[in-house]
Amino acid sequence: MNIKQILSEKVSAAMTEAGLPADTNPAISLSNRVEFGDYQANGVMGAAKKLKTNPRELATKVVEQLDLNGIASKVELAGPGFINIHLCQNWLAAQLANVAQDKFIGVTQRATPQTVVVDYSAPNLAKEMHVGHLRSTIIGDAVVRALEFRGDKVIRQNHMGDWGTQFGMLIAHLSDKLAGNEVAETALADLENFYREAKIRFDNEEGFADRARADVVKLQSGDEQCAKLWQQFIDISITHSEEIYAKLNVSLKRADIMGESAYNDDLSTVIDELMAKEIAVEDQGAKVVFIEEMANKDGEPSVFIVQKSGGGFLYATTDLSACRYRSGKLAADRIIIFTDARQSLHFKQVEIVARKAGFLPESVGYQHCPFGMMMGDDGKPFKTRTGGTIKLAELLDEAIVRASALIKEKNPEINDDDLKVISEKVGIGAVKFADLSKNRTSDYIFNWKTMLSFEGATAPYLQYAYSRIQSIFSKAENSKADALSSDAKINIVEPQEKALALKLLQLEDVVDAVISEGTPNLLCNYLYELASLYMSFYEACPILKDGIATEVKESRLALCQLIAKTLKQGLDILGIEVMDRM
Ligand code: ARG
Repeated sequence: MNIKQILSEKVSAAMTEAGLPADTNPAISLSNRVEFGDYQANGVMGAAKKLKTNPRELATKVVEQLDLNGIASKVELAGPGFINIHLCQNWLAAQLANVAQDKFIGVTQRATPQTVVVDYSAPNLAKEMHVGHLRSTIIGDAVVRALEFRGDKVIRQNHMGDWGTQFGMLIAHLSDKLAGNEVAETALADLENFYREAKIRFDNEEGFADRARADVVKLQSGDEQCAKLWQQFIDISITHSEEIYAKLNVSLKRADIMGESAYNDDLSTVIDELMAKEIAVEDQGAKVVFIEEMANKDGEPSVFIVQKSGGGFLYATTDLSACRYRSGKLAADRIIIFTDARQSLHFKQVEIVARKAGFLPESVGYQHCPFGMMMGDDGKPFKTRTGGTIKLAELLDEAIVRASALIKEKNPEINDDDLKVISEKVGIGAVKFADLSKNRTSDYIFNWKTMLSFEGATAPYLQYAYSRIQSIFSKAENSKADALSSDAKINIVEPQEKALALKLLQLEDVVDAVISEGTPNLLCNYLYELASLYMSFYEACPILKDGIATEVKESRLALCQLIAKTLKQGLDILGIEVMDRM
């Protein structure tokens, strides 16, 4: 169900009838003022300019041909050639009836699903996950769920940083701990600490750095003992990440991990091919691609090193190999990668080189979706008071503690079990929504107070709207939300009802925008607007008051039910849970 699309088709047909070229864009958009109707078609102006004719006359012709019988109650010409469309309340009601019956609440399932590889989260396993990984993890997961909800086939790829020189230092340190009879789980209980200890030894302890370097070489050449230590380290570190995923209600599983190390065997082939195709050249002992397409203003090409002079491979080499794996083995139609904006240059370079080398056919989309940083109140990157990185686990625990205090304050009678469940949903939801609702590419300021507020665009506000609807159902005689007869007829009478109907019917459009641009903030806005419209509706349109006709009551209850379903589904795409009472 997509009103915009229906209107596009209708207006396009009228444009063709009026003699316009078949590819004329009808340019349908939502009207921003009620007096301009619900939707506008603004395409005539552009077309008239191209044809050098009078736009108003052209618009008149288009309107004459426009058949919106049963769909629109009024079509008006405005200004130089805008076409304002007022939708018919009965038509809206009929659409809502369909949507209410639909498992996907009006979001049509893709007729030809795409295979989309989504690369997200991807923490570096040498350390604990910190706040910087929050964004990739939750933005990526929301986009994944939106794609799946629309019917695409998603292959999650957690490109974990599980390889590289620092692992030599870490396994050398681990090996000493184990020799001292410590068990790996205890030694690695605090990865941050472990990393710090190893680094201090590396920098200060005589001979340790040499051992660490030797261990990297051994690891890379397949030494069994080193491989075993590395595997132990990786397994425990992955377990730490999994605890966070569970806490965050993120859908990543162990099977989705395809870390950097998984590409090892392919890296020399990647280099051989780049050399054979003369895409890479030897430069001061290293293998380099000079990318002319990305030359600076002095005409110097961008330099992309694919193999170090000592023969070592890089992050870049791995990503080239990943391109080939994803478009080849995984048969991706589209690849989306979520990392912070500092990696934008890297992915531009990867794409150009991979396309040249044939690792990434033109038919496969490659989309790096960068995001900005999470900042502290001082406007500087979010850090602990002493300047350390904030561990994600600690941040999430704090969110739950804060939510718990808030819920208890609002509802002092609440029992401990309920309090625990609700605080987790509210606390985690608040952190996620605050992040997901920001424009992806900008930095944002992390603020406990605003994200946990029950007013404004926050998770608690939306969760509260949902539970308020549920409480109406528990009050309504004999009917729980799901017990309400699903064929109750929705009538659209009041302006608040119409506004809600229009909003409810925009879900597919919003999901599509989230999917195509990798922007869950659009869904956040949508849900916030929906909840706000519900609040105004609730004020203006009594439901259970004495004297309300049964038909009106049932219609409004059915509308409430659809709103609740949409809120729940929308929040579910964001990985945020709702509750009946809070
Ligand atoms: N591990 C990297 C980091 O923490 C992110 C990896 C993103 N994906 C990729 N294919 N390079 O910065």
